[in-house]
Amino acid sequence: MEIKMAKDYGFCFGVKRAIQIAEKNQNSLIFGSLIHNAKEINRLEKNFNVKIEEDPKKIPKNKSVIIRTHGIPKQDLEYLKNKGAKITDATCPYVIKPQQIVESMSKEGYQIVLFGDINHPEVKGVISYATNQALVINSLEELQEKKLQRKVALVSQTTKQTPKLLQIASYLVERCTEVRIFNTICNATSYNQKAALDLSKEVDIMIVVGGKTSSNTKQLLSIAKQHCEDSYLVEDENELELAWFKDKKLCGITAGASTPDWIIENVKQKISTI
Ligand code: F3S
Repeated sequence: MEIKMAKDYGFCFGVKRAIQIAEKNQNSLIFGSLIHNAKEINRLEKNFNVKIEEDPKKIPKNKSVIIRTHGIPKQDLEYLKNKGAKITDATCPYVIKPQQIVESMSKEGYQIVLFGDINHPEVKGVISYATNQALVINSLEELQEKKLQRKVALVSQTTKQTPKLLQIASYLVERCTEVRIFNTICNATSYNQKAALDLSKEVDIMIVVGGKTSSNTKQLLSIAKQHCEDSYLVEDENELELAWFKDKKLCGITAGASTPDWIIENVKQKISTI
């Protein structure tokens, strides 16, 4: 099988930074999953004796705690500080940005509209900074059912697709007196998405490598499918199925922002032998 890699793929700045922080802070607890890649988390747990804890109440007093890349709700951070936790913040700066915007815009009296998945840890963290009632919507259709105020501030989950954010922005502009639009989609996401889109137009099959719970990996799959119906998401090489490659010549590969190179390399190796 011939292979072509996307121009941009894999680890982003925020994930690289978080992994370095975890490696430097051995024996720490990590509040929530550091990144959305179970295999890389296993490696860190094994080699650096870090441990994930999802429940702040179970974190002992005065413990060293690393805050995950996606950030945590403001009240959880305050709770940990009150418990004397020694905090190392691995929240990606691109996630801190929307947290700050939500806090300042809501204080100024704007209704917050956050384009994101309400169940995602990043969104739960960002929305916790609102000082008034905020809306979280995952599509234009969801927004159409909501009651809007006159002054609105639009913010996005970092991994969303720009064209969809634009649709939501123009819907708001047509209906509200004042709309503040913040493009908080991060560059790494946009570059990986653009590269996946370009590559999907020229290949027979696309393989997206990444965690099944990773938002940006799922976005890459949905983008790839727009032009290449035979697009598949795998967490590692063991999930590749031979039948997918029947009668295919050129395979494109891309990977989510939390997928380490060693997993991508294993997938590439296996496909090259098909
Ligand atoms: Fe940060 Fe963007 Fe990565 S938000 S964690 S640089 S995908």
